[in-house]
Amino acid sequence: MPRDRVLIAAARRAAELAYAPYSRFRVGAAVSAAGAVYTGCNVENASYGLAVCAERVAIFSAVAAGVRRIEAIALACPDADGGATIGTLMPCGACRQVMAEFAGPDLPVYVSGAGTFALGELLPNPFAFVQTQPLTGNR
Ligand code: THU
Repeated sequence: MPRDRVLIAAARRAAELAYAPYSRFRVGAAVSAAGAVYTGCNVENASYGLAVCAERVAIFSAVAAGVRRIEAIALACPDADGGATIGTLMPCGACRQVMAEFAGPDLPVYVSGAGTFALGELLPNPFAFVQTQPLTGNR
């Protein structure tokens, strides 16, 4: 199976583990990095703003395993509206910025039901932190 199909299948399986009792919108993500696959699902909370997206769970899982460069990411939203609006399938802006932390603009983003995108087209100008002040003093 080609890499995109393998990763999308892993993302779809990961979505089955989603903890989404509030939105009832399950999301799964799978990251390919350093010869392994790291998966994640969205995890919600009674305090709604504490929800974490599937993409970040998958990427942080790779980082926690010591992997800081991701090679591809796939997403699957089995509860999306069947493609009526592509936006329900696409990664949120915050997750795009997190992808940019651990990949370059060529990162392939496989979105089940929507196609393949390069991170650079989804987030053309990611924020990059450059220290402008010496790390001294109290602000
Ligand atoms: N969600 C993700 O997991 N990834 C995204 O890129 C967008 C949204 C989750 C968060 C929340 O649990 C549910 O989808 C509805 O917003």
